[in-house]
Amino acid sequence: MRQNIVAGNWKLNTTLQEGVKLATELNEILASKTINCGVVVGVPSTHITEVVKAVDAGKIGVAAQNCADQESGAYTGEISAAMVKSTGAGHVILGHSERREYYGETNATLKVKTDLALANGLTPIFCIGEVLEEREAEKQNEVVKSQIEEALFHLSADEFAKIVIAYEPVWAIGTGKVASPEQAQEIHAYIRSVIADKYSAEVADNTSILYGGSCKPGNAKELFANPDVDGGLIGGASLKAEDFYGIIAAF
Ligand code: PGA
Repeated sequence: MRQNIVAGNWKLNTTLQEGVKLATELNEILASKTINCGVVVGVPSTHITEVVKAVDAGKIGVAAQNCADQESGAYTGEISAAMVKSTGAGHVILGHSERREYYGETNATLKVKTDLALANGLTPIFCIGEVLEEREAEKQNEVVKSQIEEALFHLSADEFAKIVIAYEPVWAIGTGKVASPEQAQEIHAYIRSVIADKYSAEVADNTSILYGGSCKPGNAKELFANPDVDGGLIGGASLKAEDFYGIIAAF
């Protein structure tokens, strides 16, 4: 079901103690507020169990930032979707551009990860987005279309309904360079049309499509005001409870 969502992506930041402190601070801020969107924090896997304990599950969901492309077995260092689920997380971020770029994740790998996440009852927050050269060559639509087609379009409509999409132009991630509200709306509408063509207008209307890339308290409101922007995936600004709340409060 389409829902406005503000999701944090802590990446490789915070020790366990710092992470629990940050989650506790956020929980305290939200306790006294009316919130008009779903809130999720994507935390390091080592932190999930403790962060789940530290927050009010009715207000804050917890996500892993990745899961393995294997169910179980001899894959040293990996964390399976079933393991993630067993920690109390409800979501998993998949296909972040940093995973694609630094860890060689392809659409084919992500297809398998998506299936495993869904099979284990996790909601994938599935990241797509073009790099700067692709944007400059006006290839962004092609790029996001193939990312969705190759990793997600084998899903049934019922399965696809469980996916949250995060559009993150790679040139805007951590750069302070944010997509303009018009650029965000244009590509979000395009992504929705691709989903409508594959499934139905109803499935497309029910899909949450988040924007990510240098989203901050100061620009969230105008980004989220767009009809096809259903919230954000927030990196840097999710590391300070007040800043993250400032984005949540944009709804
Ligand atoms: P940023 O990161 O908000 O720091 O640009 C967004 C993301 O990578 O999800």
